[in-house]
Amino acid sequence: MRIASFAVAVTGLTALPGALAWGAAGHEIVATIAQVYLHPTVLPNICHILNFTDPNPNAPLCHLAPVSTWADRLRFRMRWSAALHYVGALDDYPGQRCEFPGERGWAGSKGGNVLGGIRNVTGLLERWGEGETGEEMASEALKFLVHFVGDMHMPLHLTGRDRGGNSDKVLWGGRQTNLHSLWDGLLIAKAVRTVPRNYSLPLPYPQIEGALRGTIYDSYIRRIFWEGLLNEWVDEKDGWLACPTPKEVQQPQGALQQLMSLVGMNSARDVAGETDDEFVCPYAWAQPIHKLNCEIVWPKELDEPPYTHMRIAEERERRSRLVDTHDPHSHSHDEGLTNSPDELLGAHLAGPQPKYVELDTPAYSGVITKKKVVEKLLAQGGIRLAGVLNYLFADEGMGIRQL
Ligand SMILES: *[C@@H]1O[C@H](CO)[C@@H](O)[C@H](O)[C@H]1NC(C)=O
Ligand SMILES: *[C@@H]1O[C@H](CO)[C@@H](O)[C@H](O)[C@H]1NC(C)=O
Ligand SMILES: *[C@@H]1O[C@H](CO)[C@@H](O)[C@H](O)[C@H]1NC(C)=O
Repeated sequence: MRIASFAVAVTGLTALPGALAWGAAGHEIVATIAQVYLHPTVLPNICHILNFTDPNPNAPLCHLAPVSTWADRLRFRMRWSAALHYVGALDDYPGQRCEFPGERGWAGSKGGNVLGGIRNVTGLLERWGEGETGEEMASEALKFLVHFVGDMHMPLHLTGRDRGGNSDKVLWGGRQTNLHSLWDGLLIAKAVRTVPRNYSLPLPYPQIEGALRGTIYDSYIRRIFWEGLLNEWVDEKDGWLACPTPKEVQQPQGALQQLMSLVGMNSARDVAGETDDEFVCPYAWAQPIHKLNCEIVWPKELDEPPYTHMRIAEERERRSRLVDTHDPHSHSHDEGLTNSPDELLGAHLAGPQPKYVELDTPAYSGVITKKKVVEKLLAQGGIRLAGVLNYLFADEGMGIRQL
């Protein structure tokens, strides 16, 4: 009895942040924005591929948002797909050095990342149009596509440092979390909580209102449209779909670069060529998003005292625990650990145990809010997803439906 009610209490508590992860809210917002911009002939194709039959007669015909998190739910069952949610370059170390991908290329297998994943499922869906991809395969490819385009617009899915920030403990309003979770959900959750009340009223745009589903983030989506897509970004948003022609991709000129490409090192054009064409170019789209890691995502405090010392101490402690479990006789001096973590901290810090860096501050989250960084990423994800789906399924071709 006590255990049962405890479980209920815990589930109740975790339900809220869980429901607001980029794994849920972020992906659903991207999908909903995309739905607004689909050409009218696209949705019937999508409903058909998704085999959509909704018992509720008032439900919209079908919607991209409910399938946008399918790939995360399947992630552990289909282990092979886990690497397709992100991409990390071996030389990348934001905020000190942002490489995309740098001389040593991507970590992992060729094409086995989110950029290759988008290319792969797009190819499968193109062949569905030609009758060469089966129904079930097309359905999975579509669900992956909706998800991967969302993942690609989360900057920490584009770097491998510290497992995309999962290993970087930080504070948010005094509570411990990590950098990845902060960007996955907590920034969005705060933005949703602080939307002005006037956005709970419908906007005079039936196309927008028709795509909303009565969720807690409907007002937030209205705000992204009203202040962003219909206002600040109205002129630049069509440019978000542009793909550089191969000539325009920056090509290294010098003798050293030519030598490098001879021995198989990456040039930007080679890298782009693996995934990009003139209509769908995940690599080109991802480049400026990856840059955000150096510009705004990675708090510089993480690489400065006292937080660097915390990280070193934790890493040593973690490693010495690993050593201890494997061989109780082995001692940490093998790895040059002459200080215990406590001594290490004590050597640098007097007084109480230092806390992790707090990021719900004017200098960090305040700047992100002011510059609408998260809102713009969600909007770009939505526009690009709509563009790719229109390219795949509409007679009208590439581009987005105008409001
Ligand atoms: C997608 O990936 C699968 C498995 O790696 C591969 O067999 C297939 O050829 C790829 N398809 C496309 C269109 O890239
Ligand atoms: C579509 O739904 C029908 C009936 O619900 C089912 O028989 C069929 O297997 C489904 N197809 C796919 C591709 O899931
Ligand atoms: C809501 O109020 C804000 C000011 O708080 C204003 O800038 C915005 O235009 C309003 N939005 C709508 C849809 O009226």
